[in-house]
Amino acid sequence: MSAPLTSDEILAQLRGIKYPGYTRDIVSFGLVKDVQIDGTRVAVRIALTTADAAIPRQIQEQATAMLEAIPGVSEATVHLDVSAPVSKALQAEGGALPQTKIEGVKHVIAVASGKGGVGKSTVAANLAIALRGQKNRARVGLCDCDIYGPSIGLMFGTNERPVATEQGRIQPVLRYDLKLMSMGFLLDGDTPAILRGPMVTRYTQQFLRSVDWGNLDYLVLDLPPGTGDIQLTIVQTVALSGAIIVTTPQEVALIDARKAAAMFVKVNVPIIGLIENMSYFLCPNDGNRYNIFGSGGGEREAARLHVPLLAQVPLEIALRESCDQGRPYTESDPASVTALSFYQAAEVVRRQCPA
Ligand SMILES: Nc1ncnc2c1ncn2[C@@H]1O[C@H](COP(=O)(O)OP(=O)(O)OP(=O)(O)O)[C@@H](O)[C@H]1O
Ligand SMILES: [Mg+2]
Repeated sequence: MSAPLTSDEILAQLRGIKYPGYTRDIVSFGLVKDVQIDGTRVAVRIALTTADAAIPRQIQEQATAMLEAIPGVSEATVHLDVSAPVSKALQAEGGALPQTKIEGVKHVIAVASGKGGVGKSTVAANLAIALRGQKNRARVGLCDCDIYGPSIGLMFGTNERPVATEQGRIQPVLRYDLKLMSMGFLLDGDTPAILRGPMVTRYTQQFLRSVDWGNLDYLVLDLPPGTGDIQLTIVQTVALSGAIIVTTPQEVALIDARKAAAMFVKVNVPIIGLIENMSYFLCPNDGNRYNIFGSGGGEREAARLHVPLLAQVPLEIALRESCDQGRPYTESDPASVTALSFYQAAEVVRRQCPA
């Protein structure tokens, strides 16, 4: 007879399940609400707030399989409580939310991807600098909208915390003449709570409007990967001038890029273009071009979506290093071929959305 099962054992096992699109697991996010053990039978309850039907399915399948793999478990039941984010709920009642402007900001541009890790933040950071330009600088802000894994602070070498004025307006951090903000700046340790109920939607709605952006020509939003609650709230409540979709040439990334594109099309936000990242590796040793993730994917997808392919950004050690060192490539080496591709992409954005 083996030792009786404990809820710690069950939770430890569930920690192996990451929330889709995030590096954190469902237990640390506070989503596992209840664990019941009856001899060799286990039942858990998981609460989710999402409009994406694939997420509960995926978590349920994974959780069931993980629990059944524990020695001594004969039967595992996973109950899911799924609630829709507020904006979706409102839409279901027939009232589409108004997409309103952010005061003082001429153009809000969203940088999105379907798949995680394709280089969205790298692209957003470099594009923001390219949009700012060198001479006759445009006024540009950049906001990291990923509350669970903010990376803009790192890419700009700042861990300065923004301060709020007495009126509750949050002051962005200034770096390289850009106004930087991250939706994760204010959360610090409280992130699990934010996923509960419709809070993530409310927080997202309020946050962008609580920042003291001043007057901006462009505000670049670095969206989290996929089409989750934060992204849906933003596309439904902020008047976006356009979206840029980042993908790698791989089929798996392209399929997800299509889903992200569909989200913008549904709410009538024009897609300015596609940026293919990690397009190829230019080997510094032999000068050859290696198509690590295949080739032609970005071009085909852009044609399919009837949008321009704004840039093909190579996999490049210096690009990664510049981001890790807190000085995006477009700032540290603006004349490099890769930086120029961002400046060219910015030119297209400027033509479509004149400052
Ligand atoms: N073209 C490139 N060449 C070399 N490294 C790159 C390139 N693009 C991105 N990277 C590196 O890949 C990693 C992931 O990039 P990044 O954080 O921009 O992706 P992301 O799509 O924003 O990820 P997430 O989905 O987690 O938000 C980073 O370390 C970044 O420096
Ligand atoms: Mg990112």
